[in-house]
Amino acid sequence: MRQTLVAGNWKLNGSLESVSELLAGITEQIPTVGATEVAVCPPFVYLQHAGQLLQDTGIALGAQDCSDQAEGAYTGEVSPAMIREFGCTYVIIGHSERRHIYGESDALVAAKFERAQEHSLIPILCVGETLEEREGGQTEAVIARQLDAVLTRSGIEGFDNAVIAYEPVWAIGTGKTATPQQAQQVHAFARDRLSRQDEGIAGGIRILYGGSMKPENAGALLQENDIDGGLIGGASLKAEDFVAIAASGT
Ligand code: PGA
Repeated sequence: MRQTLVAGNWKLNGSLESVSELLAGITEQIPTVGATEVAVCPPFVYLQHAGQLLQDTGIALGAQDCSDQAEGAYTGEVSPAMIREFGCTYVIIGHSERRHIYGESDALVAAKFERAQEHSLIPILCVGETLEEREGGQTEAVIARQLDAVLTRSGIEGFDNAVIAYEPVWAIGTGKTATPQQAQQVHAFARDRLSRQDEGIAGGIRILYGGSMKPENAGALLQENDIDGGLIGGASLKAEDFVAIAASGT
């Protein structure tokens, strides 16, 4: 049985004060969520503050992105080693907002994935199709292409200590959620793609669903065989909702 992971992606939100408030709310209620692993991914500048507040709580810390470079003349970048130094376990790689708003290519995403692992971070690799791609029957081709870019660079071994997040772009922040069946179908496809190379790795990897996951729909999504958790955006900014989602994963 894969352990459920519920990760909060805070995106570009927060202040010192709101980070403290949100984490106080989450840590107060979290003993009720049992066996589910919980992680939060604040903006870079709040990682240290969040890390201090999360000490001894069992809640993991993650970053929302990292550089493909280790160090040097790359103004504005944040390296995996820096992220690791501030206590992160996870790093989100290839979120659709990075791919579609900031133009990150499959190749860049694969380079970031590899670099993150070099520095002992567990990448949460995001994949997902746009509405146009879904309507054009391209969903599986897009997921395959995004996974294959990482497989080509890191090999199947790269997925031995990684997490995948299926996030249909049309469901992110829109209030539209994939149905449990739609999501399960893509999750099964992704797992099958990996199992052609290594059944053990494919069977063990956690595949999270992301895209308007809320307390009302989390239970049904998390019941599906290949849905092993959630990457939660909007609802992770409300302690009560986030904890409720985490609780429905147990
Ligand atoms: P959402 O975002 O839950 O607000 O749709 C999910 C994500 O982008 O990771």
